[in-house]
Amino acid sequence: MDILLERKSVRKYTDEKVKDEDLNYILKCAMSAPTARNTRCYSFIAIKDKETHKKIAAVHRAAQMILQAPLAILVVGDADKVFGDYLPQDCAAATQNILLAATSKGYGSVWCGVYGNEERQTALEKLFNLPQNIKAFSLVVIGKSADNAPAKNGWDETKIKYEKWQ
Ligand SMILES: Cc1cc2nc3c(=O)[nH]c(=O)nc-3n(C[C@H](O)[C@H](O)[C@H](O)COP(=O)(O)O)c2cc1C
Repeated sequence: MDILLERKSVRKYTDEKVKDEDLNYILKCAMSAPTARNTRCYSFIAIKDKETHKKIAAVHRAAQMILQAPLAILVVGDADKVFGDYLPQDCAAATQNILLAATSKGYGSVWCGVYGNEERQTALEKLFNLPQNIKAFSLVVIGKSADNAPAKNGWDETKIKYEKWQ
């Protein structure tokens, strides 16, 4: 399976749990993402508790799929550790690796945006009792897919330029 082309946002899941060994692999892949100046400013909160899932759903309108999912990972970045203003880029690279690792292990996943939405970010930072320097970046919801739709085909030749814009 070509995981890069097969990855898609999955918002419907079966009741199957995510195996701990798969979670560890997914987190290992997250930590293998590139980071500016190798600061590795990211950390990950793995969340299986359904009561916490309900609290997340209450503050993140676009993450309601979490109510049916066995696992979510909150990706956070340390503003005291990061090089320059690269916190979003570092955390985004880690988030994408989580999606691809989950796909490779046969799980469906979806990136729920947090950073860039002040209301969601503040609410999640409060919910997880994050210190001032730790910024909530994204929430990835993961489970065995119950969605048979094919991945979108993003190929679009008009998005490619050679050497110059025109
Ligand atoms: C920064 C970012 C924020 C996103 N936030 C949400 C979200 O809050 N809820 C959701 O269901 N999907 C969210 N998505 C997933 C997108 O809707 C999805 O990637 C897009 O529609 C393309 O579909 P695909 O992932 O299946 O290719 C987000 C994706 C990105 C990159």
